Order: sequence, then C-alpha cells, then structure tokens
Amino acid sequence: MELIISTDSATYPVFLANGATSQLNSLVSDRYDSIFVFADETVWHHHADYFNQHAAFDYQVFVLPSGEESKSFIVYEQALTFLLENQASRKSVILAMGGGAVGDLTGFVAASYMRGISFIQLPTTILAHDSAVGGKTGINHPLGKNMVGAFHHPQAVVFDTNYLLTLPTSEVRSGFSELLKHALLSDANWVEELLLKDSLDDLLLLNWELELAKGISVKATIVQKDEFERHERKFLNLGHTYGHAIEGVVGFGRIKHGEAIALGLVVSLLLSNQRKLAKVWTKKLCNYGYPTEFLFATPFSQLLSYIKKDKKNQHGELHFVVLPEIGQPELTIVTEQEVEKAHTLLLALIKEETA
Ligand SMILES: NC(=O)c1ccc[n+]([C@@H]2O[C@H](COP(=O)([O-])OP(=O)(O)OC[C@H]3O[C@@H](n4cnc5c(N)ncnc54)[C@H](O)[C@@H]3O)[C@@H](O)[C@H]2O)c1
Ligand SMILES: [Zn+2]
Repeated sequence: MELIISTDSATYPVFLANGATSQLNSLVSDRYDSIFVFADETVWHHHADYFNQHAAFDYQVFVLPSGEESKSFIVYEQALTFLLENQASRKSVILAMGGGAVGDLTGFVAASYMRGISFIQLPTTILAHDSAVGGKTGINHPLGKNMVGAFHHPQAVVFDTNYLLTLPTSEVRSGFSELLKHALLSDANWVEELLLKDSLDDLLLLNWELELAKGISVKATIVQKDEFERHERKFLNLGHTYGHAIEGVVGFGRIKHGEAIALGLVVSLLLSNQRKLAKVWTKKLCNYGYPTEFLFATPFSQLLSYIKKDKKNQHGELHFVVLPEIGQPELTIVTEQEVEKAHTLLLALIKEETA
C-alpha cells in the first residue's frame, strides 16, 4: 500500500507492506554519497539479517540503545560524533530503523547535522505509525519530554510490517493508544469497532496493516492542513498533556508512551464531558492490562507541575484538547481544579474496574 504525505514544505511517500524494506533500494540508489543506518539495538538484534537480505546497498550502522534512552543529549552527541568520524556529508542519508524513540532522535540528528541532511523512517512499532509521519523530531530534556527538537520531514517512510512480528504484546498495547486517538479524532464507527475488542489477545488479531493505514491517513490529513502546529495539529495532542506529565513524573522510558497516553485519553474525555466513553475506555484499558496502579502513588501536585510546562500553554493558562463529539476536537482553556477533578475521577473509574 502506498500513501502520500503532502504539506507545504514536503511531499513524500509512505510504503506500508510486508516486505516494504525492498523499496529502500530504489529510494536510495544513486542519490546519496553514503548511507547510515541508525538502528534500535533490539530491532537490529532481531532483524539485521532480514534487512541485509532486502537492502542491496552499502551502509554503515550505528546501533542505538533500545527505546527512550536514545532520546537523550548523550546519545544525540554520540550520533553526531559517529557521523563526523565517518565523514557523513550533506549528501548523506540516515535510515531510522526502530520505534518512535529512534525515529525522533534520528530525525533530530538529521535536522541538525550540517544544518540538515536527509533521512528515511523505517518504523518498527505500531506506535510509530504516528511518530514516523509529520516531521516532528526531537529529544528529551531532564526537565521535560520532547523539549528540544525541530520540524524535519523524512524523504520517505518505509513501514515493513514484517518487523512487527517480534514486537512484544506490551508494545502492541502501547501503540494501540495512538491508534485509538486517531479514531477518536476522526470517526465514531471506528472508535466503536476498536472498543469492541475485549482483551489484549483480540487486539493482536486486528488487521494491523489496514488499521495503520487508517491511522496514518488521519495524521496525514491533519498535518496537511497545519504543518507547524498553529491550529489543527494541536488536536493530535489529545490525551498528551496529562500523558506527558505521567511520563515526566514516572521517568522517561519507565512507562511506555502509549501507556501514559491511554490514561491521558481518559482525562481528556472526562474534561470533554464524555463520561460514558471515558468509563468504557477505562474498562478496556484495565482489561488490556495497561499499568494503572502506580497512579495511586503519584501526587497530583507533581503531575500538575509538568502539565504547567506543556508547550500548548499560553499566558500561564492550561490548554487541553477536548472532544465534545467524536471527530470534533477543540482546544480549550481549563483550570487546575478541573484537571484535578478529572484526575480524581480517573482514579475512581480505575478503582471501580479493578475492585
Ligand atoms: N514525532 C512524533 O510525532 C511522535 C508521535 C508520537 C510519539 N512519539 C515518540 O515516540 C516514542 C515512543 O515510540 P514507541 O512506542 O515506538 O517506542 P520505542 O521506540 O521506545 O520502542 C519501544 C520498545 O520496543 C522495542 N522495539 C521496537 N520495535 C521492535 C520490534 N519490531 N520488535 C521487537 N522490539 C521492538 C524497542 O527496542 C523498545 O524497547 C516516544 O518517545 C514518543 O514521544 C513521537
Ligand atoms: Zn504520542
């Protein structure tokens, strides 16, 4: 399947299929003076042989620590050093092979190395259907997630679903949150379909190629309208203000991004007066085994101090994406008290489900 992402500053293809890695051969042939692969350590361990069977070009590989650890200043510097030591030029390309973490780090390296070189995304997680598209790149600062970054689009996204075969079920669950977010932002029937799934095993049986294509299309449509997040693109932050705060308090990498977003979506639904949907989703997320217990030991004041640092806030007011109707997101100002009330309600809903 081929989709096209088109914004004012860039147009690029997304190849989504089992075996899509072969598309790289025509994408890189004769275009670049050297090719670098930045690969997540776990992914490289599982799939280096497969990659080599499909890739008919020379390259140098830089293996990155698995997951969120790679989105750090230390790894960022190491990656730049690697490129400099290996004479990467403005005509080089980097292939980002891994989940959202490797994609974000690699994209930011590509955005900043010699003021910008090319990169291609090779997402290997469900969640990365979201992160690989749209050109947001970056790393974490100890004081806040994704606080340092750049807009830099890839030349292409090559999503080979073969890589998903080794994805742990906990990562499928994590990625599901972003898929549900895309459904909530676009289509009530799709939300209903997704929420029919009773268990994590049912989720594993989804037609993932189709679901990922739908998710990518929603993101593409929004990014096309508002590449630089002046208006509509903010809607993609549904569930993220509270979710990022959880990640910040628990510690980056100690909870999966999608696990935090799952809880953030409940808070957004509660702030949208969507009590019924919030309750259904809480029931499901408990059934799917998303971690929730830690939240009872997390003081709201700590979450609030992260929420106050959210990039959407202006003039000291808290800005949240809410969803008065499925498919009709809005950006709204909420008070600290309203967020605290939603947080308390979330805890009550979880208690009800896990009692
Ligand atoms: N740029 C954006 O627009 C955007 C959007 C959403 C999320 N993000 C970012 O994406 C990151 C989360 O991405 P993620 O959920 O993909 O997590 P991740 O990149 O941290 O990967 C999760 C884990 O899965 C492992 N893994 C990856 N692919 C695998 C495979 N095929 N088989 C076996 N193991 C595999 C990794 O080693 C890691 O341990 C966060 O940092 C988040 O901020 C960015
Ligand atoms: Zn996200």
